[in-house]
Amino acid sequence: MAASYTFLFLVSSLLLASYFCVVSDAATDSPNIVKGLSWSFYDYSCPQLESIVRKHLKKVFNDDITQTAGLLRLHFHDCFVQGCDGSVLLDGSASGPSEQDAPPNLTLRARAFQIINDLRARIEHKCGRVVSCADITALAARDSVFLAGGPDYDIPLGRRDGLSFATRNATLANLPPPFGTAEVILTSLATKNFDATDVVALSGAHTIGIAHCPSFSSRLFPNLDPTLDNTFAKNLKLTCPTATTSNTTVLDIRTPNKFDNKYYVDLLNRQGLFTSDQDLFTDERTKGIVKSFALDQDLFFDKFVKAMIKMGQLSVLTGNQGEIRSNCSVRNNDYVSYSKTVVEQVVEDLENLSDEF
Ligand code: HEM
Repeated sequence: MAASYTFLFLVSSLLLASYFCVVSDAATDSPNIVKGLSWSFYDYSCPQLESIVRKHLKKVFNDDITQTAGLLRLHFHDCFVQGCDGSVLLDGSASGPSEQDAPPNLTLRARAFQIINDLRARIEHKCGRVVSCADITALAARDSVFLAGGPDYDIPLGRRDGLSFATRNATLANLPPPFGTAEVILTSLATKNFDATDVVALSGAHTIGIAHCPSFSSRLFPNLDPTLDNTFAKNLKLTCPTATTSNTTVLDIRTPNKFDNKYYVDLLNRQGLFTSDQDLFTDERTKGIVKSFALDQDLFFDKFVKAMIKMGQLSVLTGNQGEIRSNCSVRNNDYVSYSKTVVEQVVEDLENLSDEF
């Protein structure tokens, strides 16, 4: 009898132990999500949401694959300044310039803003005004990664759109500069709770897209940065004959439009475009991570997805906070008064016209 009790106790202990292992594995594998966001947020209010976004973006990228980079960067610039609240999408108003007018945002693509508004119109047509512009931007970035060849992954949704935008100084303070060393970038991103692995993984977004000469010309003028590969430097000088030329070049010389781990291979070959990229292979805290991502694309994808899900939840507005904009470029209140002004103007014109006859 005692033997069978001991046996039962052993079996149940083993079962309990394996249960806790599974639970704790699941807990460490699935990313934490902030209160108010959910993996199934629009399941009832807009079940077609993700297919509308993907279908439209497939069409857009079939015409021009380079637009993936513009949309990915837009989400980053939204999230880092004042949180992922769609504030970067707002146009300036009479009360002042918008985030878009701050220097780091001047090179965001006009077409990216337009694509977000096109998506918004398509979604509103099918579901009504239920999906925020901040969520549309997050989904567009997610699909850009996948449709450029990167990993496919779920993101939590339920963000609301902000009612204000950040000042020029706040924008500058929150987006680190391309001439920053790894020390600068690590310190800057640590304030948002990103560790060295997150920093190296997020920088891997530079596997697609372009940059304008002024973003890296401090490496060419007045003196060549000695960490630059010789041939790479020569070609950059051909693209940028002076420090202020507005020409552009690709961020990843191996596969500029493909989301893969070649950006890290570039760094190993001293062909990273920005100081903030190349220095990740100099700094001892990040060098090993760069090497591991260059050797193992799956590892890069895994860490990139984790860091993106984290980035996509920075200071989000949820619940009753903010609003769901009916035009991603304008706050609803401003939009109403803008529409009214247009209507009033038309009525006035018509009245003037009828006076003339
Ligand atoms: C870690 C610090 C970062 C710095 C210093 C930085 C800086 C820059 C700069 C200066 C440009 C080029 C602007 C131009 O001259 O046109 C650029 C482009 C780009 N960045 Fe970053 N970035 C950083 C992180 C990120 C992150 C986290 C993402 C996304 C997750 C990202 C995605 C992109 C993309 C996709 C482009 C190409 C945009 C296009 O082709 O339109 N960057 N970045």
